[in-house]
Amino acid sequence: MTFSISLTVNGVRRDVELDNPRVTLLDLLRERLQLTGTKKGCDRGQCGACTVLVDGRRINSCLALALSHDGADIRTIEGVAEGGHLHPVQEAFIAHDALQCGFCTPGQIMSAIGLIQEGQTDGDPERVREGMSGNLCRCSAYAGITEAVLDAQKKLAEAGG
Ligand code: FES
Ligand code: FES
Repeated sequence: MTFSISLTVNGVRRDVELDNPRVTLLDLLRERLQLTGTKKGCDRGQCGACTVLVDGRRINSCLALALSHDGADIRTIEGVAEGGHLHPVQEAFIAHDALQCGFCTPGQIMSAIGLIQEGQTDGDPERVREGMSGNLCRCSAYAGITEAVLDAQKKLAEAGG
């Protein structure tokens, strides 16, 4: 038995046949759509490496069944730069040295974009740390990550205002 689903991934409609209803959104992105920017760290909801935006909200894609997201709008790290320009959060991560090995970085960036969109941090470093606490970094680049999120948040607010 196969299951047909249709997703919009980074603005492009993708029709996919699943032969197993238990395929995760993470595996669908990486193995079926070859979008390997989204990383598989723990594969059980503990590290945040697999964070993507689903209908604008950040989720751990390793915990999400692809079948449950028929019709969803998905954004991955491959889809955040636009018009040949990095996303402001990507620029801020570079400017603030917010990465070392880079394995956690796609998830950190997707989580940061989601956090900024949630609009709850109010430019407060402690709230940023709390909001990003689901994204682990084995290289412990946390100081730079917090600075990058705060900087990107400020720049996006200025650009929006
Ligand atoms: Fe999904 Fe770790 S791979 S939370
Ligand atoms: Fe290496 Fe975060 S930069 S795990």
